[in-house]
Amino acid sequence: MTQAATSSAAAPQAPAHIAIIMDGNGRWAKARGLPRVAGHQRGAEAARIAVRSCGELGVKYLTLYAFSSENWKRPVAEVDDLMSLLRFYLRREIGSLAEQGVRLRFIGSRERLAPDIITEIERSEALTHANSGLTLVVALNYGSHEEIVQAARLLAEDVAKGALRPADIDEAMFAARLSTADIPNPDLLIRTSGEQRLSNFLLWQAAYSELVFLDTCWPDFSRESLDQAIREFHRRDRRFGATHG
Ligand code: IPE
Ligand code: IPE
Ligand code: MG
Repeated sequence: MTQAATSSAAAPQAPAHIAIIMDGNGRWAKARGLPRVAGHQRGAEAARIAVRSCGELGVKYLTLYAFSSENWKRPVAEVDDLMSLLRFYLRREIGSLAEQGVRLRFIGSRERLAPDIITEIERSEALTHANSGLTLVVALNYGSHEEIVQAARLLAEDVAKGALRPADIDEAMFAARLSTADIPNPDLLIRTSGEQRLSNFLLWQAAYSELVFLDTCWPDFSRESLDQAIREFHRRDRRFGATHG
């Protein structure tokens, strides 16, 4: 039996969908006197560990917040570093992800993304489309407000066409027009680096997610950090508005 199989056997049942706000790369680097890009590089390695660990644990969906629609506010050089890293990571990892049975999905706007990145995204989604292991959802140039506005726009178009009556709009119809339409809501949402906010991430979808905030900066995220978050998740009592069953 492999090391991985042994440790996953000891761990409690994993939640079906884990979403992670991978934060703290810059502070990790600063604390070591390194440039921010060094933190992002180590952060990409931590993302590999998270994907592998979630696969081993039988998690069905892992959503990683890689770049927010607000992250364009950063200096151009840092945005370029982040995009280059993504490009590098996608090219280098796609073979290994496919081998692990991972199905890749990207959510977020493709506007403003470089054409070669869009090509890489489409290629990796197509290549892994039929895989049945972990679905890795990468939130890239993603922002919930924009996503919700887009869903409202789509509904408005249906109303304008006469295909839908405003009174008939319900939650399921709204959710079906989000980029996560066929993805279940996250059970567990983790944010690293000690920050305790959502930063425009999955605002609709996280309505009943259990939020776990870890002090660890993202580059230091390990299998043990994931196990710790899952253990905390199992200590929670999810009531969804009902009384304790
Ligand atoms: C997360 O780390 C990576 C991205 C947002 C792309 P940060 O770059 O936000 O690191 P801190 O929060 O400045 O430490
Ligand atoms: C959220 O982190 C976005 C990602 C992790 C990709 P930020 O570092 O951008 O969030 P704020 O600015 O601290 O809220
Ligand atoms: Mg940050």
